[in-house]
Amino acid sequence: MSNRRYDALDNIFAGLDEMLRTSVAARAVASRDNPAEGHEDQSLTDAERRHAAGLMRVNHAGEVMAQALYRGQGLTARLESVRESMEDAAREEEDHLAWCEARLAELGSTPSALNPLWYAGALAMGAAAGAIGDRWSLGFVAETEDQVVRHLESHMGRLPRGDRRSRAIVAAMRDDEARHADHAREAGGADLPGPVRGAMSVLSKIMTRAAYRI
Ligand SMILES: [Fe+2]
Ligand SMILES: [Fe+2]
Repeated sequence: MSNRRYDALDNIFAGLDEMLRTSVAARAVASRDNPAEGHEDQSLTDAERRHAAGLMRVNHAGEVMAQALYRGQGLTARLESVRESMEDAAREEEDHLAWCEARLAELGSTPSALNPLWYAGALAMGAAAGAIGDRWSLGFVAETEDQVVRHLESHMGRLPRGDRRSRAIVAAMRDDEARHADHAREAGGADLPGPVRGAMSVLSKIMTRAAYRI
């Protein structure tokens, strides 16, 4: 078997390992400080806590998908530089994952039970985009990150006013995702056709509705 095939197998096993680690088993580990540090909640009612937990569960599921998207593209990206930048971004998304997980626990809640499903779906989409070519895979990253930025903006309006810790986390994530989108475009990401952008937005709506509850 050629080295190339060994590399491909290595990548696939790394992807599967990540899948078990991020979607099913152990806790994510952040490499940066949690943005919620130093922020105190104002008093939250039970209903506000439940609502905030629903929104943070959606954000956590989104970060599980981000791990899978980047990992999937890392499996198939042709240019080494693109592959490395995908892996770097996946590590930054792990900070987001850890922050959301910590906040969910503070709110007395748990991640989405459907996380393995979100992970598997996003891994397949990321791998497909990567297989089509780097220009499209980077365009896919840029569009995904744009949609996540808009989604996080909407959560800044929907989170309870007194939930300062969730707000600090969501604001920091929004800034990171905007930077990820810029980097993907600068690296040569193509603008995706309207119907593809529309389909992505429909899928993300299905996920956000489900993960808010389950
Ligand atoms: Fe993220
Ligand atoms: Fe991102």
